[in-house]
Amino acid sequence: MRTILKLGLAGACLAGVAVATAHAGSVAPMDVKFTDNGVEASLTGAAGDAAKGRAVFSNRKLGNCLACHVNAEQKEHSFHGEVGPPLDGVADRYSEAELRAIVIDSKKALTEETLMPGFYSLKLGARIHKKFADKTILTAEQVEDVVAYLATLKE
Ligand code: HEC
Repeated sequence: MRTILKLGLAGACLAGVAVATAHAGSVAPMDVKFTDNGVEASLTGAAGDAAKGRAVFSNRKLGNCLACHVNAEQKEHSFHGEVGPPLDGVADRYSEAELRAIVIDSKKALTEETLMPGFYSLKLGARIHKKFADKTILTAEQVEDVVAYLATLKE
């Protein structure tokens, strides 16, 4: 009985290590797999948090999505840009895998000419601020949170 208990504990510890490693090993920007359906696998291996994604969406230092997109679900913010299409009901138009692909790298997912930055791409274009030169704008976790939030935008 005692031995079984000990073995059980050892197993639980090992499981803990595996989870931590998987988290640290989020898919790197260069290794993201695009298919015709978008990017199907979560970058972190886990589902995102829509409430956190909602905050990333409107944070000017992170997603800053409102600078270019109208989103009726975030009425509390007064300024919504119109460079891109309104995102109302966007989850009716795109699957989660497609939304993930658009947020990761809109140049690959939509069109090479788009003004929308790739939020998990190292190719941000010539006019990007130096501090982003070797970084992605969002972390893998923030991308997943934004995708989870976008998936709630249904009409
Ligand atoms: C600098 C402006 C800009 C920013 C910032 C921006 N986008 Fe976009 N986005 C666009 C444009 C422009 C398009 C349309 C694609 C094109 O260029 O033809 C687009 C398209 C999209 C689409 C597809 C919508 C549709 O109906 O086809 C989604 C989804 C999207 N953006 C999500 C986001 C999210 C989420 C963020 C923030 C993390 C964001 N965008 C930030 C400009 C922007």
